[in-house]
Amino acid sequence: MYLTREEEELLNKPGCDVCMKLLLSVGRVFDAKRMVKVHSVHISGISYQNIGEAGLEWIENLSKIVKFRISATVNPAGMDLRRWKEMNIDEEFYHKQLRILRALKKMGARLEMCCTPYYFNEVGYGDTLAWAESNAVVYANSILGARTNRESGITAIASAVTGLTPEYGMHLKENRVPDIRVKIDLSEGDAAIAGCEIGRLECNLPYIVSKKKLEESEMKAMGAAMAATGGKTMFHVENQTPEWNVYSKPEERVAIGREELREAREENFPTEVPDIVAIGCPHASSMEILKIAEFARYKFVIPVWVFTCRRNLTNSTVKLAVEKIEKAGGKVFCDTCMVVSPATERFSKVMVDSGKALTYLPKLRGVKAFFGSLKECMEVATGRLVI
Ligand code: F3S
Repeated sequence: MYLTREEEELLNKPGCDVCMKLLLSVGRVFDAKRMVKVHSVHISGISYQNIGEAGLEWIENLSKIVKFRISATVNPAGMDLRRWKEMNIDEEFYHKQLRILRALKKMGARLEMCCTPYYFNEVGYGDTLAWAESNAVVYANSILGARTNRESGITAIASAVTGLTPEYGMHLKENRVPDIRVKIDLSEGDAAIAGCEIGRLECNLPYIVSKKKLEESEMKAMGAAMAATGGKTMFHVENQTPEWNVYSKPEERVAIGREELREAREENFPTEVPDIVAIGCPHASSMEILKIAEFARYKFVIPVWVFTCRRNLTNSTVKLAVEKIEKAGGKVFCDTCMVVSPATERFSKVMVDSGKALTYLPKLRGVKAFFGSLKECMEVATGRLVI
């Protein structure tokens, strides 16, 4: 793999050497020819619940010897930093999580603790990124036309330290060519479940032809779901996403119709009353919070937890919406989410409107997950839809 003199020098700097060697090994595995400079980094896997003692030690040790060279944001942690007691997080977990965050901050990370960095990072078409959060990776590649592989927390940190990433995978034009045409016909609230179905297709990169124009929130939900069920890192939507017309169209075709989606929704709809309704995977945007607040004119009879980025709460309209949700009996938590926090484990049945949470909650938190559209989730939560 070709390295410039400046890049070679990084191999001799304490701390940088480990990161550079790591990126070189990844590059060699994927046959990268060179390193490329990255515009921004997003680090996932920072919840103490996920990385435990070994991860905490690794980050703390690294923070004693290196600083990040470029802008790096971080994913949700294991708790709301201000309301962790309300989440039933124990003191020991709280302190361990704080140590991880302090170490990341010491290296130069921006502690956004949010999984939608595409809403607040300046990302341009064609920008090279090293992002590690599957929903953000799909969003950046597909909707913004930026270029990033699905990094791990460790390779993202290595990129923040060196400012580099090996050039392979989604950084190369030839790997952004769609290989299957997927015709979809969505009804309201179908996007996440459609994403789950598309993720399961045996293909690398779907070219989606939608009967109706997809909203941004639908593409966000769909991308997060297909990354969870099938590890997809990008999709094109005809006439909508920035690279839809750049590559040749795939020969292979498949259709996912209304009937199929209805069946998939029915299969995942609650068969028992959920203990909690959890919304905000990926983190709810300001617009999504306003939408949730519309349902809060009734009292919640089942607890509702909403997860979002703390920076959203600085907006006065969003603040009012949050007050409304909390007045109805819900809780709006920041810095964390239902999947990476151990708090979810005290429930046994969770209803979500997210294909990603539906996929990961049983595996990572050991809880039963049910799916409904946002409207259905809220109707169940307010007791207007009885299971
Ligand atoms: Fe974000 Fe947590 Fe879902 S990090 S995408 S809310 S699993």
